[in-house]
Amino acid sequence: MSDSIDRVFLRIAVLYALTGICGGIFMSASHDHSLMPVHAHWLLLGWVSMFLYGLFYKLYPATKGKLAVTQFWLANIGLIVLSVAVGLILSDRPQAEPGAAIGSLLILAGMIVFAVNVFRGTKT
Ligand code: HEM
Ligand code: HEM
Repeated sequence: MSDSIDRVFLRIAVLYALTGICGGIFMSASHDHSLMPVHAHWLLLGWVSMFLYGLFYKLYPATKGKLAVTQFWLANIGLIVLSVAVGLILSDRPQAEPGAAIGSLLILAGMIVFAVNVFRGTKT
């Protein structure tokens, strides 16, 4: 997977775009914007960020490796855990708060790993 990590990021990004846009249309049609933060973060952390990760690994192929794969799983599991938890919290289930904390920390860990790769890739 590490050789194709750029393509995997680009492909999963458009899946987040398609699902997030469907969510936006559903939200508009139903006049119920209560899940807006889920929509916003799904698209910004899923569609926009993952596409940028894909372009980065395409531009800096020397950084493709185990670290990039680790980052992929941290970013994706983190986003899904965060989205489910925030969706539950916004639907009157505050007991999902630890899920939001875990999801956020996974996303932060993924960004730290990505920062390491960006600094490694742009050294010269
Ligand atoms: C057909 C596509 C889309 C529809 C119908 C849609 C619909 C909506 C709706 C109804 C809201 C809630 C507005 C409010 O309550 O103030 C919203 C918020 C938002 N959407 Fe979308 N959206 C779409 C695509 C996108 C895309 C592609 C992105 C990101 C690349 C995006 C990012 C956001 C963000 C960041 C917010 C929060 C804005 C704020 O802070 O007020 N949306 N969207
Ligand atoms: C672990 C990562 C993140 C966490 C825990 C987080 C948390 C939050 C919280 C608590 C709010 C306020 C929501 C409200 O008042 O209803 C917010 C708003 C927002 N965040 Fe984030 N955020 C994260 C990452 C990001 C990233 C990476 C972006 C952009 C690429 C972003 C863009 C936004 C935008 C546009 C808003 C205003 C729209 C909204 O209220 O949902 N966030 N975020």
